[in-house]
Amino acid sequence: MAIQRIVLADEPLLREKSKKVRRITDDVQRLVDDMVETMRDAPGVGLAAPQVGALQRVVVMEVPVREEDDEEANPRTRLYVLINPEIIEMSEEIICADEGCLSVPGYVGEVERAAEVTVRYLNRAGHKMRLSGGGFLARVIQHEVDHLDGVLYTDRLTSLDTLRPVEPGTEEEAELEAAMA
Ligand code: NI
Repeated sequence: MAIQRIVLADEPLLREKSKKVRRITDDVQRLVDDMVETMRDAPGVGLAAPQVGALQRVVVMEVPVREEDDEEANPRTRLYVLINPEIIEMSEEIICADEGCLSVPGYVGEVERAAEVTVRYLNRAGHKMRLSGGGFLARVIQHEVDHLDGVLYTDRLTSLDTLRPVEPGTEEEAELEAAMA
């Protein structure tokens, strides 16, 4: 396994459409391992294959599991590996919130996303899976699937005025670190 360099927003590769994975080969498994390691090192909550230079429809996400009355300092997280993800349902309800991206370091901006989505995908064992999620999980899914189509959150800002740098060492930066995808 190896930490990969994260491709930045000004590099043309991030604007290309990624190809479907035909067969989950050892190379794909290695890509997934590298992506998980790179995401955790960044740190981030999600990473799409184009962000490590691979134009393949592969996404990894590691998001907190929300539990009732869970006030622990280190909430549990759950790792998802999505191969060939397709969003098959989106709620009409939308939520507007700040979003960040590991390919646009140091910035956040406001984006409208469907409040709930259902995504169909293959896991790394090749099994057909379905995941429904709301709130933050739904946002990360939409952000990552966008990456596979060459779309960045900065294309979807409610207004360019909402895009702003985050001051290093502030509480906002700490929060942002927990929300980069
Ligand atoms: Ni991103």
